[in-house]
Amino acid sequence: MFDKLLYIETFGCQMNVNDSERIVSMLADLGYAPTNDAASSDMILLNTCSVRGGAEEKVYRRLANLRIYKRDGKKQIIAVGGCVAQQEGEALLRKLPYLDLVIGTHNLHLLPDMVRSAERGERRSETAFIDNELRLDLFPPISGESRLSRFVTVMQGCDNFCSYCVVPYVRGREISRRSADILAEVRQLAEEGVKEVILLGQNVNSYGLKSSSELSFAELIRLVADVNGIERIRFTTSHPKDMSDELIACFGDVTKLTGQIHLPAQAGSNAVLMNMGRGYTRETYLDKVHKLRALRPDIVFTGDIIVGFPGETDADFEQTLLLMEEVRYIDLFSFVYSPRPGTKAAELSDDLPKTVKMARLDRLMELQRRHTMEICRPYVGSTMAVLVEGEGRLPGQLSGKSDIGRIVNFPGDSSLIGTFVAVKITKAYPNSFLGDRL
Ligand code: SAH
Ligand code: SF4
Ligand code: F3S
Repeated sequence: MFDKLLYIETFGCQMNVNDSERIVSMLADLGYAPTNDAASSDMILLNTCSVRGGAEEKVYRRLANLRIYKRDGKKQIIAVGGCVAQQEGEALLRKLPYLDLVIGTHNLHLLPDMVRSAERGERRSETAFIDNELRLDLFPPISGESRLSRFVTVMQGCDNFCSYCVVPYVRGREISRRSADILAEVRQLAEEGVKEVILLGQNVNSYGLKSSSELSFAELIRLVADVNGIERIRFTTSHPKDMSDELIACFGDVTKLTGQIHLPAQAGSNAVLMNMGRGYTRETYLDKVHKLRALRPDIVFTGDIIVGFPGETDADFEQTLLLMEEVRYIDLFSFVYSPRPGTKAAELSDDLPKTVKMARLDRLMELQRRHTMEICRPYVGSTMAVLVEGEGRLPGQLSGKSDIGRIVNFPGDSSLIGTFVAVKITKAYPNSFLGDRL
């Protein structure tokens, strides 16, 4: 059935990872099998991210590299998808003569037809937004991949327009999938042997808020938890302003909900939070953290922080470090602010020298490294339920995920893949644990 090879490279967030899975599954129907070798492939697709300037530049560098594969007159298809494709559209085809296809974030359903066009030698760009209910039925399903843990999209897009962020411009308006469709998908996955679902969206906890007839995210989680066979539920990403008491309460009694939550604060100073347009204060953020801890004392937090936002003073930055001290994240993704064309913050004057921004980032990362180890070391000696996902990096080792989302490696036989195993933790590393099967 497969007579062609598809090479796909994915940048950016989990929405892109999920879209890439969809693309692989769609193009399998056209005879494309996935490969890890770009040079010998029949089609190269870059699924791109434009959230920061650096991410976008990486895509352009990669595209420039790819050009060499086409030099010897090979009929290889080169395609760009994702957020840079959405942002640049047709202009990319004009800029890069060796590019065949540009596919926007709302147009995945058109990909098979576009690939056929490209096979006939046509160049095409499709980036029209579909910001209405129609989008819900243009959701190419993922098939043919049996795995233990799977993403389930619950909503797409973002209406928050945080002042620094390009996502609302490249992913379009927020739309929640029908809960009936989501639950049907979860049940189907459970039947296929999936044990963990990760409910996915840019802002999952605003699920259903735009429609009076839809469930709330908390209600949705409770129904997902009722599905037999699903043993763990995670979600990403949640916005602190939409972290309702109803959702917080789920952490008290929905035992399938894992003990880790990603709750990006972005900054610790109210002045900066206000300029970012985040819709919460340091106090309301911390209040939610404390409520979650009260219900689940062993919950762990991960987050995102932007340093060097326009106008961020030394005192503002100290507030961010203090917030970190109070939350104590197990992991933190930190970024230097990057102005994005078309966003509100890009118009703000930003006279903070790069060196100051980098020094702030260094301090923050150093504090985080300390927190990570302080939080992880006490797990040594404890027992964790590990969902074994595959072989570890070292021979004879297996690798899986614990309830708090961290990787656990331990010696074991591959027959354990796909099961839950009790593992006693023997060592904590910055990014994983090592243990022994009990
Ligand atoms: N919807 C998610 C975030 C998606 S973008 C949320 O609201 O949490 C992922 C992260 O990239 C953001 O949380 C933010 O920390 C960072 N980010 C987004 N735009 C940025 C910019 N212009 N400069 C630096 N970091 C940025
Ligand atoms: Fe960007 Fe804010 Fe939307 Fe997150 S919530 S995707 S940071 S605009
Ligand atoms: Fe990047 Fe687009 Fe995700 S800009 S972070 S890939 S939504």
